[in-house]
Amino acid sequence: KITPVLMAGGSGTRLWPVSRKSFPKQFAPLTGKETLFQASARRLSGPGYADPIVMTNADFRFIVAEQLDQIQIAPGAIAIEPAGRNTAPAVLAAALMVARQDPAQLLLVAPSDHVIPDADAFAAAVQQGIAPATTGRIVTFGITPDRPETGYGYLELAGQGDGPQPLARFVEKPDADRAAQMLAAGNFLWNAGIFLFSAQTMIDAFRAHAPEYLEPVQAAIDQARDDIGFLRLARDPWEGLPDLSIDYAVMEKADNLTVVRFSDRWSDLGGWDALWREELISTPSDAGVVTDDHSTAIDCEDVLLRSDSDDIEVVGIGLKDTMVVATSDAVLVADKSRAQDVRQAVQVLKSRG
Ligand code: GDD
Ligand code: MG
Repeated sequence: KITPVLMAGGSGTRLWPVSRKSFPKQFAPLTGKETLFQASARRLSGPGYADPIVMTNADFRFIVAEQLDQIQIAPGAIAIEPAGRNTAPAVLAAALMVARQDPAQLLLVAPSDHVIPDADAFAAAVQQGIAPATTGRIVTFGITPDRPETGYGYLELAGQGDGPQPLARFVEKPDADRAAQMLAAGNFLWNAGIFLFSAQTMIDAFRAHAPEYLEPVQAAIDQARDDIGFLRLARDPWEGLPDLSIDYAVMEKADNLTVVRFSDRWSDLGGWDALWREELISTPSDAGVVTDDHSTAIDCEDVLLRSDSDDIEVVGIGLKDTMVVATSDAVLVADKSRAQDVRQAVQVLKSRG
């Protein structure tokens, strides 16, 4: 059985004002009834999977427990990182915890901010990854790119064919020029951010490429304490860790990467533009207009109007290429092309206190 490791510690600032530090996007029902976190947990449950390990932080621990409870999934562990040090130490911690029982155990690390409508297609892709993961490979999942996105990692294929194949290179978050080059080259896929590997393989990868993590993360586990069902990793060793994503710390350097193509629909709801695209797929509109129960568009073209507050009606008249997102205490109005810059707004507000 594969042990799912759900990464649920990010704060999703690009989806402000719906995504907040205390209640980020993965826990909000952005599309449909379930939250993204619940959908991710459900996708990695059932036969073939052990109980999931959730890596998160103290602020989110009750949301995580409650949302799993709602969909009747019992976590194997909810581990609390004492400080946000990005995904590298979180992945290593999960591998070390699992390795204590069985170093050959397979782990499937998955973000909780994804939309993958076809769970069966995803399960089939995971099945293809099991053989290579069992023989010491780190398996990535590759998405066919359709735009020069700079927010993703890129996987350079070493050969042809449909089955799992070795990767020539992993390039995390290229600048716009490189992204355009890679898209044009045609032999690159996007990294879905999902990884399948054995506990020992990941520990060995850290030993080779990011050894500074090993001792402190092991110490944080050894000194962890149980807090009414939550596993609190020890603060002292954790706080000194470098803040790096697994992509930069390990994947860009590893030489044992394999890719399985995932050709079904996949989206990282990394910003309002991505959410907009998703909504247009489920509810097509010639004018590119996306509204909800509390918003109305009159003579608008390519607009996203959204109100998450029952008390606020949003009306757009004659707008073009604009997104408006209202909550009970904040309103975002932005040009469509600036979706990734919402992150800056959060910085500005933070610095104002
Ligand atoms: N536990 C924990 N701790 N989780 C974290 C932390 C942390 O400190 N920081 C981020 N996460 C979680 C996020 O909540 C998300 O579910 C996942 O880890 C990935 O983090 P993101 O910040 O969303 O990464 P990204 O989208 O910029 O990039 C990654 O995903 C892309 C695809 O969605 C990379 O793997 C890219 O290569 C990839 O293309
Ligand atoms: Mg993401």
